[in-house]
Amino acid sequence: MNIPSHVSIIMDGNGRWARERGLERTAGHAHGVDSVRACTEAAARAGVKYLSLYAFSEENWNRPKEEVDTLMSLMVKAMENEVETLKKNHVHFKVVGNRARLSGLLNSMIDSLDEATVRDARMTLVVMLSYSGRWDVLQAAKRLAEEARRNPSLDLESIDTESFSSYLATDGIPDPDLIIRTSGEQRISNFFLWQGAYSELLFVDKLWPDFGQEDFAAALEAYAKRDRRYGKVK
Ligand code: FPP
Repeated sequence: MNIPSHVSIIMDGNGRWARERGLERTAGHAHGVDSVRACTEAAARAGVKYLSLYAFSEENWNRPKEEVDTLMSLMVKAMENEVETLKKNHVHFKVVGNRARLSGLLNSMIDSLDEATVRDARMTLVVMLSYSGRWDVLQAAKRLAEEARRNPSLDLESIDTESFSSYLATDGIPDPDLIIRTSGEQRISNFFLWQGAYSELLFVDKLWPDFGQEDFAAALEAYAKRDRRYGKVK
């Protein structure tokens, strides 16, 4: 079977999952962590090289403070709890996003978990935190402009899509082959705008806390049947 090298997931529907059960939205997020664990395991087992998860967007900072705080502490707790499992399964943990907005504690935990899991890794789990596609393209453009200002001999004609990509926060990570969104919504919501140019999109109705290993396996099967042409004729 043709296994995608990079699978990305827009984990949506935690709030609805909780509401359906008469629970607080934050209970949905807590159950969402179980799906994160299940999909990480399933991806590693299938031979996926990169699994990226849209865990918190730049826009999510506008949610009620209590919900933001719960999401951040879930992240801290998951990092504390999963270090050994990540190491045992050879999964490198990495965070991509606007790190300047994260707390000092979270940033230092991210750095130490990244360092603790980088050796002998077979898969990279990329948690997209305080990330949005427009933020990323904009920060890349600003960094490039800064470089042009510092180095007036920089040949603007030499900048191509590949060199521009190296200014993105996802530098070093291949573009996603497959982007899955749960909960029945069919939109990109400011996620991978540049990197997703040729990604296969898969929208599934299940809410994120209900999305398990069999659903991940089914997504890989659906991907294997797709015919990718990148704008060319086959
Ligand atoms: C979307 O559901 C989900 C999120 C904004 C957060 C996803 C975060 C986690 C699953 C927790 C931790 C992650 C890691 C990597 C440990 P929603 O709240 O938008 O749901 P709704 O659309 O039903 O309201």
